[in-house]
This record gives sequence, structure tokens and C-alpha cells, in this order.
Amino acid sequence: VDSLTTMPSGAGKISCLNAVVLGEALASEVDELVFPSHHFSSQALVPSPQKYLEIYQRSIDDPAGFWSDIASQFYWKQKWPQPAVSENLDVREGHVYIEWFKGGITNISYNCLDRNVEAGLGDKVAIYWEGNDLGSDATLTYSQLLQRVCQLANYLKDVGVKKGDAVVIYLPMLMELPIAMLACARIGAVHSVVFAGFSAESLAQRIVDCKPKAVITCNAVKRGSKPIHLKDIVDAALTGSAQQGVSVDVCLTYENQSAMMRESTKWQEGRDVWWQDVVPKYPTTCDVEWVDAEDPLFLLYTSGSTGKPKGVLHTTGGYMVYTATTFKYAFDYKPSDVYWCTADCGWITGHSYVTYGPMLNGASVLVYEGAPNYPDSGRCWDIVDKYKVTIFYTAPTLVRSLMREGDQYVTRYSRKSLRVLGSVGEPINPSAWRWYFNVVGDSRCPISDTWWQTETGGFLITPLPGAWPQKPGSATFPFFGVQPVIVDEKGVEIEGECSGYLCIKGSWPGAFRTLYGDHERYETTYFKPFPGYYFSGDGCSRDKDGYHWLTGRVDDVINVSGHRIGTAEVESALVSHPQCAEAAVVGVEHEVKGQGIYAFVTLVEGVPYSEELRKSLVLAVRQQIGAFAAPDKIHWAPGLPKTRSGKIMRRILRKIASRQLDELGDTSTLADPSVVDQLIELADH
Ligand code: PRX
Repeated sequence: VDSLTTMPSGAGKISCLNAVVLGEALASEVDELVFPSHHFSSQALVPSPQKYLEIYQRSIDDPAGFWSDIASQFYWKQKWPQPAVSENLDVREGHVYIEWFKGGITNISYNCLDRNVEAGLGDKVAIYWEGNDLGSDATLTYSQLLQRVCQLANYLKDVGVKKGDAVVIYLPMLMELPIAMLACARIGAVHSVVFAGFSAESLAQRIVDCKPKAVITCNAVKRGSKPIHLKDIVDAALTGSAQQGVSVDVCLTYENQSAMMRESTKWQEGRDVWWQDVVPKYPTTCDVEWVDAEDPLFLLYTSGSTGKPKGVLHTTGGYMVYTATTFKYAFDYKPSDVYWCTADCGWITGHSYVTYGPMLNGASVLVYEGAPNYPDSGRCWDIVDKYKVTIFYTAPTLVRSLMREGDQYVTRYSRKSLRVLGSVGEPINPSAWRWYFNVVGDSRCPISDTWWQTETGGFLITPLPGAWPQKPGSATFPFFGVQPVIVDEKGVEIEGECSGYLCIKGSWPGAFRTLYGDHERYETTYFKPFPGYYFSGDGCSRDKDGYHWLTGRVDDVINVSGHRIGTAEVESALVSHPQCAEAAVVGVEHEVKGQGIYAFVTLVEGVPYSEELRKSLVLAVRQQIGAFAAPDKIHWAPGLPKTRSGKIMRRILRKIASRQLDELGDTSTLADPSVVDQLIELADH
């Protein structure tokens, strides 16, 4: 295991320890195969391993032909010239680039809406919206959604948003969020959705980076019984970005009356505009801006191993084909399905599997505004029964937290409509998997444990329900066209049963094309560690049957309740506190969240520890990043374990954080080994 801790070619140290150990633990827990029922398999799109292997083989033998056939099912104003793909993924042979269907002209919003309406789905429900408060709900058919999208698109054009311009969207899960995404896409504008749990500072940082023509938000949202004034956060962010030289002329604000009335909203005349006052006045039709398959569709910022978030850029054509296809197969989609993904559109899951993937398939999508445990832990199943949800897709952290509340919250609802369950965002431990399968799904519904990332655009490793027997906790096998490889620390592919770093050989249409404004970081982070491959940043084991077991990040990124957070971001928020001299953050196992945030903090000389200071440090992180990144534990550290060259030895900090004190390993290379004893002494202070 220790040999896995060094990255090749001097790219820096990474820790694979937890990952590999966890992988072994997971694998040893598993001794069963869970077979899909005959009834399920017989109606499934991919009914058997043989069928999967047949399609998979073709996708690998002829990726361009395979994806071209699928792409042809969409509307293209002009077809792409052959070949469908052009790429270089090997940094040793020049700059990395990936192009799919380049030269093809299309529009993803048209394919989500107009194409479905023309195919006769105009009266089909596109969005079932369920509000936070019981009894508040609404629906939009595909025709109505198209009209709403067109009105907003016309407004945006009118205020000067043009093809290629960025628009920042900071909205909760109102229908207006997918409407805003689709409106941007319709006019070729590049949306950058920022999760509405991010702080003003994080929002400002993203605004400064992408310089949007407009910001779209709402005045407030209720989470549970508490209203949160989103517009105040946007105001602060716009002031902050203006101070950094980026001013935004338009702030379109939706009045969310269920949370707050417009009279109590702070307002800047000239810049701020009420959505309800302007958008409905625009025509309900709007010409489409036809774009190249490789024109940018959206930016989505995600955490990496430095303090600066990365602007992941996805383009139009390949992303469209990939999200639609993965959605269809991984959930065994049928036109009669009612699909609910609990993710927020502020994350990639909400982009690919609330908005684009499902709508490209003409699916009825449920959008829920509120918290999954409001007013109590049965809310999800209440919603499932109310709308007869057939496909339910969520994160393991929610499964674990509901599991703790007890089966009675689940079993008092029928859940008969459910057919397929999904999991995403972090490894699902076998006991949570079994509870999800047995209790939520009444041992009837296959679970699609989909492994993927913001960068990958769509699923890379996922079960296809009905095709394979499942193993609780394994994401199983690659999607069509995807070639996962597990490499050792030297970047050499390991065959058969093994553990190592998960890389991908070749490209797939949904892959991101660059990091906005920083192609060099794109190459360095993803393609240089193991030349010739895309490096995912995850550890993975493959068992004797070829099943894949994702074991967590091997870099300085932690995964808290399925939210990706860079330890460096939390550290930089902590050290911005005037009384904090130094901070080191590591992830620790957490029963519900998967990983918790554990921060070692050294105070400025002479400042005493206090409970109050602890709170104000946590507050600094909430204010700079968002509440979801608040540390679970602040561990006072008179000093941090450093090598003689000054590098913090996180391996030791991880062991102290998880109280594995007999596994500290060699501490003799530390500049001052006594630091470790001091830290252990202070562990429970
Ligand atoms: O560590 C993996 C974990 O989430 C990371 C990607 O995070 P993000 O870009 O925010 O996207 C989350 C939603 C796709 C991965 O590097 N991850 C995601 N899905 C799984 C997972 N780990 C294990 N099993 C999964 N199904």
C-alpha cells in the first residue's frame, strides 16, 4: 500500500492509503450477487450480459461509428463531416484536445424542447415541481416549458446577451432554474450555474472568473422552515466582483413569493429587474441560435487540489449525445417513467441528469425545492407516492441519513411505482446499499450506482439495470465506449484483480474539453500524472469477476455528503481569519456524510484557544465557501508535522484525525517529531 503513495514523474505526493484500505474492506464485505428479476430483465433495454458485451464491443471497436449512429437520432441543422472524433490525449505528443462531431451544427435546447414537441410530446409533463411547503406544486408540459424558455431567451437577447457570453445562474430548485439553463443554451450563451448554497465570496470569485453579461437569481428560498435571502448574497457578490473590476449590468431576480415578498427585497435600480415584470411580456417563440457541436454549452466550477476552483467547460454536441444515452441506458428509461433526481442543478448531476439527459429523452422530471427530511424523514416517499415516481436517483449520504431515522418513515408509504433506484457522488457502503435495495425498493428495484465526475459530463462506470447481477457497493462495469484502466504508481496498466489509480483510455463524447482560461492546468492535472490517459483522481479496485469498486479520492479533494471540496480551499478560508496562523485540513470517515472535514489549526503566537474562536473559525469557512464546507472538527495544533523542507505530512494528520494512533508510521523524518505527541495530547480538547 505504501508504494502507492508516490505519484510518478515527480508530480507530487498523493495519498492512496485510505482509498486502498477502504477498497479492501468493501470487497471483503461482499459475498453475494444480487440478480435482477426475470420480469425486470425481460423488459430491459439491455437484458443480459451477452447483450451488454455485444454493444460494448462495438463501441470500443468503432467509437466514431457507434456514437455517430446514436447522434443521428438528434436534430442537426448540418451533419458533422467525418470522422466524428478527433483527439490527442497524450501530452507527450502535443497539446491535449478532444473534439466530437466538430463541424456539426445543432442546439441542445432545441433537441430538449422543440424536437420533443414536434414528435407529439407537447402535452406531456416535462416538469413536475414540488415546493418546500406541503401542498405547493406546479407542472409544465413540454409545450409550456418551450414557451417559458423562449420568453426568457428573448429577454436575455434584448438585454444584450449574445452567443458565447456567460450568464451566471444562482437559483434554488425552482422551475426557473432549468428554464434559465435551457434559455441560455437556446441563444448560444454559456451558463455558469453556481449552487445557491455557496457564499457571496465564492459567487464573486466565479463571477470575476467568467465575467457574465447577466446574473439570474431569486429574492429568497425556504429551506425547511427558514427563509434564506439569496438576493442579499448576490448583492454582496456583485459588490465584491465590482471591486475586482468585473461589474454586471443586469441582475434578473425571480420573486419567490413562498419565501419572501418583493417589498422586503433590497434593490438597486437600473441593475435589478423583477423576472415577473419583464419576462412574461416577451414572445413565446424565439429563433434558435445554431451552434457548432464544439461550441461551449456551460461552465461549472468544481474543487481541485489548489484553493482556486476550476471552471470545467463542456461543449454542446458530444455532451448532448452522451448525457442522453447514459440516462436512457443506466436507468432503463421508458417513456412512461416519472423520474426524480434529488440533486441540485448547482452540481453536475443536476446539469446532466435533472435537465439535459432526461429532457433529451422527453422524460417527465420531478424537481423538488426543499430538504428531503422536511417536514419529516418520510417526505421523499410521500413525493414518490404523490407523483408515482418510477426512477429515484440520490446520493448515499441521504440513504444513510434516512436509514438512521428508521424503516417506519419508508414503510408507511407504498412506493409501488418505483422501478429503478440510483446512487451517485460517493461510494455507497454495502450496508446502505442493502437498506436502499431491501427497504426502499422492496428488493424489487435494481440500483444504478453511477460513477462519474463533473469533468466526465456523464456516467463512466455504471450498472445497466437488468443486464448484470449486482454486487452491493460496486459500480460494476464501464458504460459503452468507456475504457477504464487501473494503473500502478508508475502508470503501468494492471490487469485482472487489482487496486490502483483509476484512469480512462481514449475519450468519450461527454468529456470536458478544458478548464476555462487555463488549458495548462487541464493538461497538468488530468493528463500529465499518467501520460496517455485521463486521470480521474480516484482509487479503484477490480475484483476477480471484473467488477469495479471505487474507493475514494487519492488527491487533496474530499467528498462531504457527495459535495466535492478541496482541502486547500478550506485551509485558505481558515488562514484568512486574523487569529489563524496556519491550517491543515484532512478528510475523516463520517457515518452519514461519507467524509467529514477535520481541520488542524495553529493560532497566531499568544492567542489562546477558546470555544468562541473555534466558532468564529467555522464561521469564516461558512462565509467564504458556504455552510456545506464547515469543518466538523477544529483540532488545536501548536505546530504541524512537517518535513525538514517544510512540507506538511498529511499522512500523519489523517491518522491522528481518525485516531489510528498505532499506525502513525515513521515520524523520524519530521523536522520536529515532538509535534506529533502534542497533537495527540490535544486531540480531545
Ligand atoms: O470520488 C468520486 C466521487 O465523486 C467525485 C466526483 O465529484 P463531482 O465532480 O462533484 O461529481 C459528483 C457527481 C458525479 C469522483 O471523483 N463519486 C461520484 N460518483 C461516485 C463516486 N464515488 C464512488 N461511487 C460513485 N458512484
